[in-house]
Amino acid sequence: MTTLKVMIMQSYLKPHSFGCLLLAAAALAGAPAYSQVQDSAQQTASSGVLQPAGAADGFYEQLGGKDGVAAIVAEFVSIMLADKRIADTFEGVDMDRLHAKLAEQFCMVSGGPCSYTGKSMQEVHEDMKINNARFNASVEDLQSAMTRRGVPSRVQNRLLGKLAPTQRSIVTQ
Ligand code: HEM
Repeated sequence: MTTLKVMIMQSYLKPHSFGCLLLAAAALAGAPAYSQVQDSAQQTASSGVLQPAGAADGFYEQLGGKDGVAAIVAEFVSIMLADKRIADTFEGVDMDRLHAKLAEQFCMVSGGPCSYTGKSMQEVHEDMKINNARFNASVEDLQSAMTRRGVPSRVQNRLLGKLAPTQRSIVTQ
């Protein structure tokens, strides 16, 4: 059983756990049903690239559009660099590129006018020995970043739900 499934099951028991966020992310308006998240995860595992969202319903604008996404990414990276659980992994990384590629990815999955031009999630993370605890740390950091930027929890859950399938490509330990 994958960690994501375990977390979703645990969310029934612990309403305020991180698993609850992913359950909500998968279930809330506009987000895919969990079975679709699994399908998407399989696509991600094979292609390494997340699928774009439809542009029609304003999800990208709810993240604040170009400036909002850039601010979320800046906050996210700043929080990760201060997070002892994962900070060491970012030593020597080209931060300008990281900001740019994360912004493209968040823009694309929220239906914004962007294409993701970075590496596949599998390719970029495969030598980093990332386990579920470190993956979850990064998701918690993204949640904190969105909270600091004033993103409503419903919108936060939707972005987390869009990114949840990357777990299968990123976690290798
Ligand atoms: C939701 C989870 C995650 C997402 C969506 C994500 C996404 C990305 C993206 C889009 C890039 C840029 C790829 C490129 O440069 O072409 C990247 C790079 C990177 N990620 Fe992640 N990531 C996640 C989790 C993690 C975790 C848990 C770690 C480490 C503990 C990590 C460490 C890194 C590092 C070090 C790079 C820079 C690699 C390099 O430039 O050499 N990521 N990630």
